[in-house]
Amino acid sequence: MSKTVVNVANLDVRFGAAHVLQDVSFSLSAGTTVGVVGESGSGKSTLAKALVGTVPAAAGEIWVDGLDVRHATRSELARYRRRTQMIPQDPFSSLSPRRTIGQTLAEAIEPGRGRVRPHQDRIVDWLERVGLEGAMMDRFPHEFSGGQRQRVAIARGLILNPTMVIADEITSALDVSVQAQILELLAEIQDSLDLTMMFISHNLAVVQRVSDEVLVLYRGVVVERGPVEQIFTDPQHWYTRSLLEADPGSPGFSLDALPMASVTTPTQ
Ligand SMILES: Nc1ncnc2c1ncn2[C@@H]1O[C@H](COP(=O)(O)OP(=O)(O)OP(=O)(O)O)[C@@H](O)[C@H]1O
Ligand SMILES: [Mg+2]
Repeated sequence: MSKTVVNVANLDVRFGAAHVLQDVSFSLSAGTTVGVVGESGSGKSTLAKALVGTVPAAAGEIWVDGLDVRHATRSELARYRRRTQMIPQDPFSSLSPRRTIGQTLAEAIEPGRGRVRPHQDRIVDWLERVGLEGAMMDRFPHEFSGGQRQRVAIARGLILNPTMVIADEITSALDVSVQAQILELLAEIQDSLDLTMMFISHNLAVVQRVSDEVLVLYRGVVVERGPVEQIFTDPQHWYTRSLLEADPGSPGFSLDALPMASVTTPTQ
């Protein structure tokens, strides 16, 4: 058995009167990826934010790599956030337009300093690992395509060798053909680095490709969780089944494209 990195138990998150996550429990072993699916508003990003401690939990436990996230001190949380990287959705707004790519990566290594020279070898190595060229470190984000920017964002998320990576809709802002390339890259990196990852998407086909385990969120509740093969071949919950009946194999399949009737008629 590999080590358990994440353990979430009975997590509740509320925004005022809205109960956005209810009694969410799951664990994640080192080197594995949990996919989180659910339609828009089901609480996926909130779960990610609760995990990194930027959204407060109302109840429950969140343990990551031995740290009690809900009761961590400020300095413990600061250290924790360097080891838990979030790869953002929008590669256009997530990179500073005034920094070179090299400075952005240097800033990730050494916040507040951004000195490129001492980290040059590591920066070049990471640019090459994500399919870019080392010489690109001197360029600015506006010189890059969306797919290239997302490669930079992935390099920035991984350059510190994090304990866990959270990828929240990292392909949804990209063209379909570029999405496939980014997923291919992520799959290669997963294999070579043994990443522990939470991969959030409302695209079921994409989640199937990169996940070991899947959590199905429906209105803030985990209605089903299990190994990816089981979720896709033998779903137990009506909601999961209704998602799959809408042709999960088609490229670009999205939960948001489902007719509402198919998700509002519980039979279980
Ligand atoms: N800061 C906040 N204050 C109040 N309500 C919020 C806040 N953030 C999220 N919510 C609400 O919580 C619910 C879950 O939002 P969340 O962003 O987690 O959904 P999601 O599954 O990530 O959706 P999407 O697929 O659109 O990204 C939504 O109803 C949303 O309106
Ligand atoms: Mg979201």
